[in-house]
Amino acid sequence: MASAFVSASPLPSRSSLDPLPLKLGASSQATFLGKNFIKAQPFTRTTMSIAVEVSRFNELTMAPPDPILGVSDAFRADTNEMKLNLGVGAYRTEDLQPYVLNVVKKAEKLMLERGENKEYLPIEGLAAFNKATAELLFEADSAVLQEQRVATVQGLSGTGSLRLAAALIERYFPGSKVLISSPTWGNHKNIFNDARVPWSEYRYYDPKTVGLDFDGMISDIKAAPEGSFVLLHGCAHNPTGIDPTPKQWEIIADVIQEKNHIPFFDVAYQGFASGSLDEDASSVRLFAARGLELLVAQSYSKNLGLYAERIGAINVVCSSSEVAQRVKSQLKRIARPMYSNPPIHGARIVANVVGSPDLFDEWKEEMALMAGRIKSVRQKLYDSLSEKDNTSKDWSFILKQIGMFSFTGLNKAQSESMAGKWHVYMTKDGRISLAGLSAAKCEYLADAIIDSYYNVS
Ligand SMILES: Cc1ncc(COP(=O)(O)O)c(C=O)c1O
Repeated sequence: MASAFVSASPLPSRSSLDPLPLKLGASSQATFLGKNFIKAQPFTRTTMSIAVEVSRFNELTMAPPDPILGVSDAFRADTNEMKLNLGVGAYRTEDLQPYVLNVVKKAEKLMLERGENKEYLPIEGLAAFNKATAELLFEADSAVLQEQRVATVQGLSGTGSLRLAAALIERYFPGSKVLISSPTWGNHKNIFNDARVPWSEYRYYDPKTVGLDFDGMISDIKAAPEGSFVLLHGCAHNPTGIDPTPKQWEIIADVIQEKNHIPFFDVAYQGFASGSLDEDASSVRLFAARGLELLVAQSYSKNLGLYAERIGAINVVCSSSEVAQRVKSQLKRIARPMYSNPPIHGARIVANVVGSPDLFDEWKEEMALMAGRIKSVRQKLYDSLSEKDNTSKDWSFILKQIGMFSFTGLNKAQSESMAGKWHVYMTKDGRISLAGLSAAKCEYLADAIIDSYYNVS
């Protein structure tokens, strides 16, 4: 980026933009007030003064668009009326409009009526939120909460909570590796890279079955250096929509325990996957009940539709309440110079919804409705694909997947054809967000998938 100042003025008067006095260098460059300028050449009675500021940021190249958020930019630029945005994991109504939950509106009304203030929150966040979020995850009467072994700190949604945990790992477990699934949500790698935490991948997705490569996963977790962190998606694995069965979770816990690894759960879809908050927390609860120390990042973006409020938490389950207190103090120490205190609005919404029996029940109903709509378009997409495809290809993997996403098995070129030819926007790894699909568009999507799958290599 360079800015240019140009002035043309008759001699001898000087415009205020004249870059004088100048300290001239050997070339035509000069410095003024510590900045670099290109010196102008005088001619006849008029001086053309051109001063081009050479930016200190010249070395910065243009960053590539984000692979997920960049999809929405491309969608917005498309003027075709059939266009469909299946890139970002955000819930839409059957009319493909964003949805604000009724319980959120009710909680906000309550907050307005109470005339609550906007004072700073403590670094660890709103106490009522921290209590509610930990109870939602582990259950109020769980041993870990009864024994006060959980350090809970409000975070900037799932991403910010993961980032806090990554900073904790970098500071107190130097050199320790985080194992992440292949594939995973794209931002995981960014988070650990920016926190300077080394990571490697464990096998997860088997393209042959469009299912879980369970043996590969177990052997990679076994082969990792003892004491590694193992990042696990608590439910509704993103991007594949493929979760381990309860029995497989038990075996994963066995191996993690044997290898002295530290489980690190990312729970971005509690209640949103199955429609039940308890069922979707069962993997985390299984590990906690074994007495393991573990980390859990939570997000309320999806299940309460609070995408823009940036509300979530990091929970560290420790071996004793005394250790938990020390861990919490260090999380606060990390948060203080990063963003100081978390925002209050979303925290109050969650605390109000979870803290009021009426709103809590209503939330569960709304969440079941959202999860139900996604399940019904999943079924309809499968039906349309099976009906239209006259080969013997089995599309039932779509029904076996869970949550917001479906991993279609389309490759990069095929995913690009979906956008270029069919105006269907999705991530290049073949993931589609069913939360952005309506029943009315299922047939069109099935046509697009079949065409791209069979006609693009
Ligand atoms: C697996 C996973 N983790 C974390 C997040 C974090 O989302 P947010 O920062 O909006 O809470 C997402 C969002 O898509 C996700 O899919």
